[in-house]
Amino acid sequence: MSSYYLDSNSKSPLSDSVKRFLLKGDFDFSNPGSIHKSGRKAREQVDLVTDYLYKLFNLKRSSYHLFFHSGATEGVNTFMRGVAAKAANQGDQIAYFYSSVDHPVSFAIARLLKEQGHITCQFPVDRNGAFDLDQLVGNITSTRRKVSEVFLNYQAVNGVTGVVWPLSWANRVKKESGCYINVDYTQAPGRVDQWEQLDDSLDAYHFSGHKFGALPGVGFSFINSLITIPALVVGGGQQQGIRSGTENVLGIYTLQLALEDLVTGATTDQILLYRSELEQLLQKTLDNRGEVIANRACYRAANTTYFVVKGVKAQELVVALDIAGLEVSAGTACSSGVVIDYYILEAMGYSSADYPGGVRVSLPPTITYDQLHAAKTVLSGVLERYLV
Ligand SMILES: Cc1ncc(COP(=O)(O)O)c(C=O)c1O
Repeated sequence: MSSYYLDSNSKSPLSDSVKRFLLKGDFDFSNPGSIHKSGRKAREQVDLVTDYLYKLFNLKRSSYHLFFHSGATEGVNTFMRGVAAKAANQGDQIAYFYSSVDHPVSFAIARLLKEQGHITCQFPVDRNGAFDLDQLVGNITSTRRKVSEVFLNYQAVNGVTGVVWPLSWANRVKKESGCYINVDYTQAPGRVDQWEQLDDSLDAYHFSGHKFGALPGVGFSFINSLITIPALVVGGGQQQGIRSGTENVLGIYTLQLALEDLVTGATTDQILLYRSELEQLLQKTLDNRGEVIANRACYRAANTTYFVVKGVKAQELVVALDIAGLEVSAGTACSSGVVIDYYILEAMGYSSADYPGGVRVSLPPTITYDQLHAAKTVLSGVLERYLV
């Protein structure tokens, strides 16, 4: 039996260039901190990737620091805990705004900041995953009077529902309220049009390599160079002290290879067509027994479909689909395979009694027409068993 992997938002398959590079076997990079020839070669490699990233995202070195790390979780932790620690050292208090459908990293940061005496404010979303921009601006503006600075965590693409919040909305919030904006950009590359076009008025962007075809365990962040923060990871002072620890040169190199593949690969139009086909099938099969979440959102990731079936536990459905050869997910996978997506459905107005979880199908950029059709057959076969 063939199996079809439609869980790209958990981990994208390695990009073709990364696979080719690894197969060549010539990847024994030295420590970029060493001064011998191999060390200098490794340093040069890191520098080349650094140049590439500034160029790809059209950001200026004078405006943003770029640092490599293990992934977006570390990037968000470094930035948010850094700004909070700096404020606390100066006897100040900050406010942290985050949404009810953020990734768990944002909730964990909010808990931590609150324990440290900072203010945290969670803002709601509607049934299509949208937030009320004017209300958010109003709340941030009034909170700004009470604290030294306000930071908004802005999840540009929701990894579970695929709902997209354009950077232009974040730009407006910043302009109208004067807050700092921390952009969780983890799920954007390859899933939204013009994902390379960042807004250079926003304060931080975080990326994870394994969400776009690079090796897992490596990522990078751009942070506003005017914001100085104490490092989260201290030690040997690598990366100008922003993040100590020997750089993962192999992983860093794969970031560039994977991004180059995305840039030269198919546009999101093709994957969007596949997603539409899949959703037509779901709508027909589910009829009034379920629905595609946020299907009326203004913008959605081209590759993501999140659906619920009334009265059916999503975890059960995911297991049944896995047995039938279709690998999908029931939301955000944390440690030990525990899936925590109920909070997202509840935040969007779905009762967990009616809808015990949702199923996320996230198409990899490399999926072919034949694979999509085979996957659709498996999906409808399994759903029909549950719907009798
Ligand atoms: C939107 C979003 N933010 C942050 C993360 C955390 O990324 P990582 O696990 O690579 O640190 C994820 C991972 O799924 C995500 O989807």
